[in-house]
Amino acid sequence: MAKRDDKREGRLAIVSNRLPVVLKKRGAKWHVESGSGGLVTALLPVLRNRGGLWIGWPGLTAQQAGSGFEQVLADASRHAGYELVPILLSEQEKEGFYLGFSNEIIWPLFHDLHVLCNFDPAYWRIYRDVNEKFAEAIAANCRNEDYIWVHDYHLMIVSRCLRDRGIAAPLAFFLHTPFPPLDIFLKLPWRVEILQGLLSYSLVGLQTLRDRRNLLQCVENLVADATVEGDGEVVNIRFPDRSVRVGVFPISIDFNDFARRASDKAVGKQVKAIRQNLPNRKIMLGVDRLDYTKGIPYRLRAFQNALDRYPDLHGAVSLVQVIVPSRENIPKYSELKTEIDQLVGEINGKYTQEGWIPVHYLFRSLSQTELLAYYRASEIALITPLKDGMNLVAKEYCASTIDENGVLILSEFAGAAGQMQEDALLVNPYDVEGTADAIHDAFVMDLPEKRRRMKNLREGVKGQDIFTWVDGMLRAGIDKELKSFPVLQDYLPQIEIS
Ligand code: UDP
Ligand code: G6P
Repeated sequence: MAKRDDKREGRLAIVSNRLPVVLKKRGAKWHVESGSGGLVTALLPVLRNRGGLWIGWPGLTAQQAGSGFEQVLADASRHAGYELVPILLSEQEKEGFYLGFSNEIIWPLFHDLHVLCNFDPAYWRIYRDVNEKFAEAIAANCRNEDYIWVHDYHLMIVSRCLRDRGIAAPLAFFLHTPFPPLDIFLKLPWRVEILQGLLSYSLVGLQTLRDRRNLLQCVENLVADATVEGDGEVVNIRFPDRSVRVGVFPISIDFNDFARRASDKAVGKQVKAIRQNLPNRKIMLGVDRLDYTKGIPYRLRAFQNALDRYPDLHGAVSLVQVIVPSRENIPKYSELKTEIDQLVGEINGKYTQEGWIPVHYLFRSLSQTELLAYYRASEIALITPLKDGMNLVAKEYCASTIDENGVLILSEFAGAAGQMQEDALLVNPYDVEGTADAIHDAFVMDLPEKRRRMKNLREGVKGQDIFTWVDGMLRAGIDKELKSFPVLQDYLPQIEIS
């Protein structure tokens, strides 16, 4: 690994497929946009101004990059307070590693949707090569004292590549998605190699007990010489010559930051504007990346069913559905977009009346101010994934509902359900009538009950925020907490990236 060249103690080195920024070139000018998705939201406050590094892909292929992007990233690094180390993928690597193995095999499989998998053997070879490429970048940019923390399903075998290079340092891994049950995992042609990769880390973090139970069952059935010891938050998988810790660490958000920003003047102004545009009705909000795991068609059918069966909702509730474009080069994603467009058209065609449109549909990403304003303006959040690692939108909605007057309708298959089940209205997202009933229950719920539930939800998110999560992982991995990687004073202030 690279030699240490200053007096600082070890740094935190985050490694994920995506950097928190996406670089785009319009004409001759570079633009820096914020990456979307829960991984970026969760990790941003962890690394900010700590002088560590984040290794990942800035969304560009080597062909698109040309010259000049290094300077843009260097500027973004100075503002972030840590170094952004880019990994450029070739067009072929983007196809085979990112769109292919990661998002046409692992993503659907780990969300129990094996029928959507495209088990193309060429994808596996590229996945291995790109994991090797990440290992090379880690070896070139990290120092012996750094703590290397790899994230998510794109990089499950980077550890193996590092171990093969003789790197014995502690390596942590956190899986942001669910881990599937044995009978689903068994379908993966490279199941043993993936497990061996995961078990080459020193610490593996999972979102929920359900995910850990699944992983341990796969290990017990597929890996010789492994014995599981303990049953607490962190257990040991022991091999004759070493052991791996496997823990449950439900990821979260920076609660205080969301609550503070939600009360900004600019957000308040936008809340007013949203309410003026949608007067005399309750707003029910959905915010999702375009993804078949998010259950959007079932959700729309549930809303349609509610309108069919509960006439008191007519003119009185509008669903604002925000969909952030994602992975559109994958056929299943573009098909999903067509299905959603049709369903929205169908519902609006059937129910729209003078002064009321049932579904307001935004297909774009929102600025932070807009997102917070929608959270605050909405009396109901309708979050119904078919399966989700955690679902940070659920936590963000609660943190931002500073008036404590919102109702959270949440899928029982979101990781967040484990922590929020007492005070959210839990639904089975496949149960169209059940979800429709929950929409009506939320609509008629009285204010004291809403307040009681939302207060509890907010306390829960506040009590187990992103810093609880990071400290839990660091304690289990190296017996340290985030304060061991102190904020440095000599960085430029953060700027909001659109
Ligand atoms: N989000 C975003 N851009 C938007 C709307 C939302 O980046 O226009 C963020 C949102 O704030 C949340 C994340 O996307 O932090 C979604 O995370 P979640 O865990 O709910 O799902 P994921 O997309 O990671 O599957
Ligand atoms: C989920 C995954 C992340 C991913 C994000 C956005 O949150 O767990 O690893 O970065 O979705 O997806 P994308 O394919 O745009 O990176």
